[in-house]
Amino acid sequence: MGIFADVHCDICHAGPTFSAAVNLEIYSPTAYKSGSAYADRIGFIPSNGNNSVDATLADRGFFNTSVVPDEYDVGLGGTDPWGNPLSYAQQYLNSIGPNPKKLVDHFVVSSCEFTDPFVFDFKPNELAPSKCSPSMPKSYAKVPKPAIVKQETFSLDQGRLSTLTTGAFKIPSLRNVELTGPYMHNGSMKSLEEVVEFYNRGGNVHNRRHAATLVFAQGFSQDDKDALVAFLKTLTDERVRWEKAPFDHPSIKVPHGHTNTSTGGLMDDNFLQIPAVGKEGASEPLKSFAELLK
Ligand code: HEC
Repeated sequence: MGIFADVHCDICHAGPTFSAAVNLEIYSPTAYKSGSAYADRIGFIPSNGNNSVDATLADRGFFNTSVVPDEYDVGLGGTDPWGNPLSYAQQYLNSIGPNPKKLVDHFVVSSCEFTDPFVFDFKPNELAPSKCSPSMPKSYAKVPKPAIVKQETFSLDQGRLSTLTTGAFKIPSLRNVELTGPYMHNGSMKSLEEVVEFYNRGGNVHNRRHAATLVFAQGFSQDDKDALVAFLKTLTDERVRWEKAPFDHPSIKVPHGHTNTSTGGLMDDNFLQIPAVGKEGASEPLKSFAELLK
C-alpha cells in the first residue's frame, strides 16, 4: 500500500472504489450543483522540451495512460452515432464556442471551480463574464469569448483550449482486480505482474501528456513489484472469489448455436443452461485469467 501511494497510483485509483471515476460526487444528485465533478481544467507539462505548464480541459476520472498509440483507439475522444462528443470536457467546450451547442448529457460545469481557471492563461479582453457562486473570485468565472474558443482549438493537442480526451479511458476500479483479467480496455495484459511491469516502464508508448497522467518509468526493484502485486491481491473479496451471496448468480440461459429443424425453414436455437450457484457459493474458487491460461 505504501508503494501504491508513493508512486501516486491512488490519485487515479482513488477512494474506497479505487477509481476517481466512481465517486459520490458523480453519483449523488447534488453533484448536479457542484462545479468540477465532471470536467476540470488542469495543468500539465507537455513533453516538448520546454518546461512550460499548459492547462487542458479533462473529464474527471478518465486518463490516457499510453496503453496503445492514440490513433489505435480514440477512446473518450470519440463521438456517439449522432456525432456528439462522448467527453464532458468536449461538450463543455462546444457549449462556449461559436454556434454554441447544448450539453447532451445532464451535467453542470462551473468555470469558477476549475483547478486552473481560464483567467490564468487568457488576457482580460479575451474573456467574457460568466456566472459564479458568491464565494469565488468573480474573475475565476470568466470563460474565453466564442471567437477565442474557435482560434484556440485548431488541434486536439495544442492551443490554450486543448482537451485531454484522445486515447483516454475510464479509470477502472481495482476491487477484485485479481479476478478481472485480462487487463486494460483492450485486454492486452494477462496478469497483474504484466500491469505492474507496464507502470514500471512508464507506459507502452510515448505520450505528449505523460506529465499529466503520472505514468512515468519507476525503477521498481523485484521486491517492490512483488509488494505491489500482493497489495492488489488484498483487494479481492473472498465472497466474490467463491461466488457466495450476494455475489452468487442465478441460473443463466446462454444462446449456443443452432440445429437444423426436420421441417426445413428456420433453424432452432440451442441454449446452454448454466445452473444457479446458490448462496453458499461454488465448490471451486474463481481463477485469475493467467491461471485459466495454464
Ligand atoms: C493517471 C491515472 C492513473 C495512474 C496514476 C495509475 N492508473 Fe492504473 N489505470 C488507469 C486507467 C485510465 C486504466 C485503464 C486504461 C485502459 O483501459 O487502457 C488503468 C488500469 C489499471 C489496471 C487494470 C485494471 C483492469 O481491470 O483492467 C490496474 C491493475 C492498474 N491500473 C493499477 C495501477 C497501479 C498499480 C498504479 C500505480 C503504479 C496505477 N494503476 C496508476 C489510470 C491510472
